[in-house]
Amino acid sequence: MFRVRLWAGCLSILLASQAWATEQPRLVQQQGRFALFVDGAPYTVMAAQLHNSSAWPEILPSIWPSVEALHANTLEAPVYWEQFEPQSGHFDTTNIDALIDQSRQHGVRLILLWFGSWKNGQMHYVPTWIKNDPVHYPRAQDEHGEPVEDLSPYADANLQADKTAFAALMHHLKQKDGQQHTVILVQVENEPGMIGSIRDHGAAANALFNDKLPAQLAASLHKPTGTWSDVFSADADEMFNAYGVARYIDQVAAAGKAEYPLPMYVNAWLRYKGKHLPGYDYPSGGATWNVLDLWKASASHIDFVGTDLYSTDYNEFTKVVDQYARSDNPVWISETGYEAGNAPYFFHVLAKGGIGFSIFGVDNDEDTSKRQAATAAHARNFQLVGAMQRQVAQAAFVGQLFAAVEQPGQPQKTLDLGRWQARVSFGAPMWGDAPAELPGNPSADGHLLIIRQSATEFLVAGINARVEFERHDDDHRHGQLLRVEQGSFVNGQWQVKRLWNGDETDYGLNFGTQPTMLRVTVGSY
Ligand code: DGJ
Repeated sequence: MFRVRLWAGCLSILLASQAWATEQPRLVQQQGRFALFVDGAPYTVMAAQLHNSSAWPEILPSIWPSVEALHANTLEAPVYWEQFEPQSGHFDTTNIDALIDQSRQHGVRLILLWFGSWKNGQMHYVPTWIKNDPVHYPRAQDEHGEPVEDLSPYADANLQADKTAFAALMHHLKQKDGQQHTVILVQVENEPGMIGSIRDHGAAANALFNDKLPAQLAASLHKPTGTWSDVFSADADEMFNAYGVARYIDQVAAAGKAEYPLPMYVNAWLRYKGKHLPGYDYPSGGATWNVLDLWKASASHIDFVGTDLYSTDYNEFTKVVDQYARSDNPVWISETGYEAGNAPYFFHVLAKGGIGFSIFGVDNDEDTSKRQAATAAHARNFQLVGAMQRQVAQAAFVGQLFAAVEQPGQPQKTLDLGRWQARVSFGAPMWGDAPAELPGNPSADGHLLIIRQSATEFLVAGINARVEFERHDDDHRHGQLLRVEQGSFVNGQWQVKRLWNGDETDYGLNFGTQPTMLRVTVGSY
């Protein structure tokens, strides 16, 4: 009798733990498109990133109102090497445990940012026992032989120390979170590369620099063999440093994945806004667009490269997105500014098949009107997309998501939806005829997304935009709106709140600042 009860008890524990276990997050690539699978299905990351010094147990309780105000589904928070390994080989999981426990309590997923050897092109987060021992843990040197505030990527002691700590972190994560998968992604280092010198000029680095490029790298880049200077001429120093940094980080990531293979990425301090001096304008050797092929060839344990994209300028933002939207890299905005002007670009990222968008510096007690406008702009997007997050992620993955983002001076855009076109206007009134010359929105902040569910059925959500559906089949039939439902998804099922007709459809479908979602069915006669 006792034995039977014991077995029954074990069985129920087993069943309970199986019900609780979720599928491990993974990056899936299909026909040049990507999705981050979380709980077994594509997931759009709508993240709130903490300020650098906020991931402490005493501080965390104060950050949640900001995360919730934004309707973020994911928190991004640093893990500080100096806190995690205060003495060599002694690991302190207090901060990570608090992050995981509190994220679970607040119902959000978590992305951990490993502030290890690099943070913004410098080494400020390495533990004191490393900072105080440059003989064992050498610094990189500038061209005059002066040390810079970076660990040398060519010193094995540095690499081993970072690998050991990162592996310990991933080991702990597997123990604590290997079933529930609150943590969905890990960023390895933060904006790596070197500030203060274009490359390390220490003795070990110089010897490698004067040697030939590794044959495998030359082959992957379709370059001849030769020294770095032979092959890359004026770009040799930067390419060499990128190789050193990428190889170092790849080995840190590999050590972590050997413990627990979550998807991992690096974030780039970008080479943009006219900045072009490696080591001064941006960290030399980080995954900037000009060295991205080299990074891809040298860091196979890094699943993708994210962009820390702090521009509100349409041309600049979309240019960078295009540089990183590649068949070997998904668009991932690893950081963007807490500004209203950045919010519309979320839709552009989704239309490029992007996996997510993260707003930096969400915990801030400033209560300025600028801050309030930024919160409102980001929150309504996250709320809108959050209500159909799985549908959005799936549509982005299979190329059925389309978006129009307002560009100053261009108040009209056309989206090609196959047999139908969507004409999107910015600056038209909420109903009534649009003026002959559309003015655009005063802050040029209109944006709209469309998910094509079938050839004649579309989900539409937008902010400060009008959309008209036009048939462009050449069969002399006319297009018509058959049914326009306003509604929302409840537990994954579409629920209709009301039908739009009359003034609400005769002048296009108009979206203001309130998060609104429509399901539109079109037909012909
Ligand atoms: C980019 C860094 O990755 C962040 O940690 C933070 O320092 C921001 N810059 C500040 O703008």
